[in-house]
Amino acid sequence: MDYKIPEQDINAEPFMTKPPDYNRAGVVMRTDKVFKAEITNIVELTPLEKLFRLKILDNAERQIFEFRPGQFVMLEVPGFGEVPLSITSSSNNREYIELCVRKAGRTTNMLHQAREGAKLGLRGPFGTSFPMEKMAGCNVLLVAGGLGLAPLRAPIYWVSEHRDKYKDVHVLYGTKEPNQMLFTYQYEEWQTVNRIELLTIVEKASKEWNGRTGMITELFEDMSIEADNTCAIVCGPPVMFKFVCQYLSELGIPMNRMFVSLERRMHCGMGKCCRCMVGSTFTCVDGPVFDYWSVLNLKEAI
Ligand SMILES: Cc1cc2nc3c(=O)[nH]c(=O)nc-3n(C[C@H](O)[C@H](O)[C@H](O)COP(=O)(O)OP(=O)(O)OC[C@H]3O[C@@H](n4cnc5c(N)ncnc54)[C@H](O)[C@@H]3O)c2cc1C
Ligand code: FES
Repeated sequence: MDYKIPEQDINAEPFMTKPPDYNRAGVVMRTDKVFKAEITNIVELTPLEKLFRLKILDNAERQIFEFRPGQFVMLEVPGFGEVPLSITSSSNNREYIELCVRKAGRTTNMLHQAREGAKLGLRGPFGTSFPMEKMAGCNVLLVAGGLGLAPLRAPIYWVSEHRDKYKDVHVLYGTKEPNQMLFTYQYEEWQTVNRIELLTIVEKASKEWNGRTGMITELFEDMSIEADNTCAIVCGPPVMFKFVCQYLSELGIPMNRMFVSLERRMHCGMGKCCRCMVGSTFTCVDGPVFDYWSVLNLKEAI
C-alpha cells in the first residue's frame, strides 16, 4: 500500500491524512499464503544482530513477491513462532530479501542459531510503506537510532537506485556504543557512489571511536535544513523519534512530511487479531508507517 502525502494547501478541505478504512477493503492480500524460503547467507553484524538473506524456494512465487520500502513480513521459525520483521533489502531485488534480526526472545534466539540452508516460512509483505515517489524533488533526511537502520536501509537502497530524482540526501545514524552500529561495511559506498551524506554519533565512545559523541539531535548542528523542501523518515525507539520529530517540526518541516515506523506486538499481521491496536488503529494494516501528524493524534502511540 502506498502512503499519500496530503497537499499542503491549508485552505483546501478536507486537510487531513488518508481517512481510516474501517472496512479494511482491499487491505488483505495473500495473507494466508506461506512462502517457503531458505536462508542463503548470514552476516553477523553485531553481537546482537544478524543479517539473513532469504530466497523463496519456488521460482514463480519468488517472482510475484513484491514489496515497498517500509513494509514487513511475518517470519515463521517452524516449531517456535512467527515474528514481524522489516524488509531491509532493496525492493528492486526479486532474487532474495534480507532481514536484520536482533536477538530479543524465544523465536529470534532460535533464528540466530539457524545456519545457511535452514528452511523458514514467510507471509506478507504487510503494512504501509514510505512514500518514496512523493518525495521526489525534495531533500531527503533519513534518521535512524540503533536497530532503526534496519527499516531505513530499504529507503536508502531506493534513493540510491533513483538518485537523480532527489536533491540532497542525508543519513543521520546514532547508537549507544560504536560496536552497535549496523551495516558499517556499506557506509563508504553510500557516501562515494550514492552521494549520500552520512553523519554518525554514539552516546558512549570507545577507545577506537574518533567520531562525534552525544545525542542524535546534535548532528543537526552540522547541517542546514531547507525546511520547506525536505521530507524525513525517522526510525528508532519512540523516545528518539519523538525528540527528532519535535526538533524537525520546530525547524519548520510540516508534520505530514515526516514519517515514522511504529512497532507493536503483532500476531496475525493482517487486521484480524487486534493484538497491535492503538485506539481504533491497527498498526499492522494502517501502519507500521505513519506520518508524524497521525502518530501525534493516536492516543498512546508514543
Ligand atoms: C512492523 C515491525 C517490524 C519489526 N522489524 C524488526 C526488524 O527489522 N528487526 C528486528 O530485530 N526486530 C523487528 N521487530 C521486532 C520483532 O518483531 C521482535 O523483536 C520479535 O517479535 C520478538 O520475538 P521473540 O519471539 O524473539 O521474542 P519474545 O519472546 O516474544 O519477546 C522478547 C522481548 O521482545 C519484546 N518484543 C516482542 N515483540 C516486540 C515488538 N513487536 N516490538 C518490540 N518489542 C517486542 C518483548 O516485549 C520482550 O521483551 C519488528 C516489529 C514490528 C512490529
Ligand atoms: S497483528 Fe493482528 S490485527 Fe494487527
